[in-house]
Amino acid sequence: MQSFLGLLRKLRVWLCLSLTLIFFHGLKVDAIELNLDDPESVKQAASTIAWDMVHYYTGNNTGDVPGNLPDPYYWWEAGAMFGSLVHYWAYTGDSSYNDITMQALLHQAGPTGDFMPENQTRTEGNDDQGFWAFSAMTAAERNFPNPPKDKPQWLAMAQAVFNQQASRWDNQTCSGGLHWQIFAFNNGYTYRNSIANGCFFNIAARLARYTGNATYAEWATKTWDWVQSVGLIGPRYQVFDGTDEKDNCTSLNHIEWTYNNGVFLHGAAHMYNYTNGSAEWKTRVDGLLAGQGIFYLKNIMYEVACELINDCQTDQFSFKAYLARWMGEVMQIAPYTYDTIMAKLRPTAQAAAAQCVGGKRGTSCGMKWTTGNYDGTDGVGQQMSALEVIQASLAPLVAGPVTTVTGSSKGNAAAGTGDQATRDPTLLKPVTSGDRVGAAILTTAILSGIFSCSYIMIA
Ligand SMILES: *[C@@H]1O[C@H](CO)[C@@H](O)[C@H](O)[C@H]1NC(C)=O
Ligand SMILES: *[C@@H]1O[C@H](CO)[C@@H](O)[C@H](O)[C@H]1NC(C)=O
Ligand SMILES: *[C@@H]1O[C@H](CO)[C@@H](O)[C@H](O)[C@H]1NC(C)=O
Ligand SMILES: *[C@@H]1O[C@H](CO)[C@@H](O)[C@H](O)[C@H]1NC(C)=O
Ligand SMILES: *[C@@H]1O[C@H](CO)[C@@H](O)[C@H](O)[C@H]1NC(C)=O
Ligand SMILES: *[C@@H]1O[C@H](CO)[C@@H](O)[C@H](O)[C@H]1NC(C)=O
Ligand SMILES: *[C@@H]1O[C@H](CO)[C@@H](O)[C@H](O)[C@H]1NC(C)=O
Repeated sequence: MQSFLGLLRKLRVWLCLSLTLIFFHGLKVDAIELNLDDPESVKQAASTIAWDMVHYYTGNNTGDVPGNLPDPYYWWEAGAMFGSLVHYWAYTGDSSYNDITMQALLHQAGPTGDFMPENQTRTEGNDDQGFWAFSAMTAAERNFPNPPKDKPQWLAMAQAVFNQQASRWDNQTCSGGLHWQIFAFNNGYTYRNSIANGCFFNIAARLARYTGNATYAEWATKTWDWVQSVGLIGPRYQVFDGTDEKDNCTSLNHIEWTYNNGVFLHGAAHMYNYTNGSAEWKTRVDGLLAGQGIFYLKNIMYEVACELINDCQTDQFSFKAYLARWMGEVMQIAPYTYDTIMAKLRPTAQAAAAQCVGGKRGTSCGMKWTTGNYDGTDGVGQQMSALEVIQASLAPLVAGPVTTVTGSSKGNAAAGTGDQATRDPTLLKPVTSGDRVGAAILTTAILSGIFSCSYIMIA
């Protein structure tokens, strides 16, 4: 009897302790607080998420290579991450990561300043080079601190990549367009995809606006026209993944990714701004904003091709980052889009912040924002996506990208052309299975046949 009562008492204490623990755990404020009407709250949320993103980076550790992320992240995603950090600094004023960003961009741009570093070139796609170029271009547009005078400069880096990609335009088949891959020995060379052509279009449009040089605008227009003519941008401004020169670009891979819409939307907005608000480019900006509908559930952004079927791969965890980043800038250079874009960005930012409850600190973010629950995944792409969508809401409070007149980055219209002659692709060997394949976006996705199953989802 006595011992039974004792047991009961123990049990009560134990129950009480457990309930207290559960209670406090439930109360623990580990979700990221976000009040979108208070810029300080937005900056605080961005700072927390940026910290969690940068903790994946090992490139500033002794003995590691500046600019590289560890496996499983491909080279291009590291380039994209430093672009996020340039934006982070421009929108929040927090310069904590400026030094690693400067170091990474300079190291990977290489002595020739064209983002064709020896360790990556053999597996590098036009889109991979494009994403690094975006980060350099953003540095110019945001007046990020300039590199030392004896190093390549931000604007010149973007021009180098533009010049090289213009020289790769291939009208032997398909009446034009860029290949996905730079070198013919790489898998996917014959694929003409939206992201490779979108990156080139985007850089050309931004260089046109930044420098005022009409040659860039002509290339942007020519690329847009080609992309539309082969149907990569469809009649309702759907942006499809790619087409292939093997059949003269007559059939399409119809999968739609968020960043493909974003890369054209952002470029079109630059052309809209460059042309002082032309009706032609406005129609395209509006069309792409309407064409985005497929990427939202209750106004919350999601990756329609893979998210619901839990089939998103490393690269794809990051795609929403770019769409969100670019929507933010579109509000700056085409301010009439403010209401349309904010109606999507605000609920998305709120939903993204609400599920950042993972990891040791209770602040790491997952991929799925539409469910209200943390999905248990974590990584650079998830952090970058949450960071970009949250900081994009600051865009209307910050000055837009600068131009030659107001900026300070030194350009060189001939950058990237001289050294190309000395880098003879025929001297490069393809990677063998023993090599670490480091660069190409979506290679694994193509090989694993994700396109077919994801396509079924959205078709
Ligand atoms: C690398 O950079 C991060 C972020 O600035 C910093 O926290 C870390 O201490 C740096 N590591 C080294 C080895 O410098
Ligand atoms: C190329 O990769 C090797 C092996 O990781 C590294 O030691 C070297 O520093 C890299 N070179 C450059 C220029 O980044
Ligand atoms: C391909 O482009 C080159 C250079 O712009 C031009 O001279 C040539 O006529 C074009 N060829 C075709 C088939 O369009
Ligand atoms: C390839 O397609 C282009 C239009 O994109 C057309 O002008 C050209 O005649 C086609 N070439 C062949 C060989 O079918
Ligand atoms: C835009 O307007 C400015 C100032 O009026 C003018 O100098 C410039 O040529 C215009 N740009 C275009 C592409 O029409
Ligand atoms: C072009 O962008 C600037 C911001 O950089 C903005 O003030 C201006 O209104 C934009 N032009 C048009 C036509 O929207
Ligand atoms: C404009 O850009 C083109 C293409 O890079 C270049 O050849 C030309 O020299 C540039 N013009 C000026 C005035 O900088």
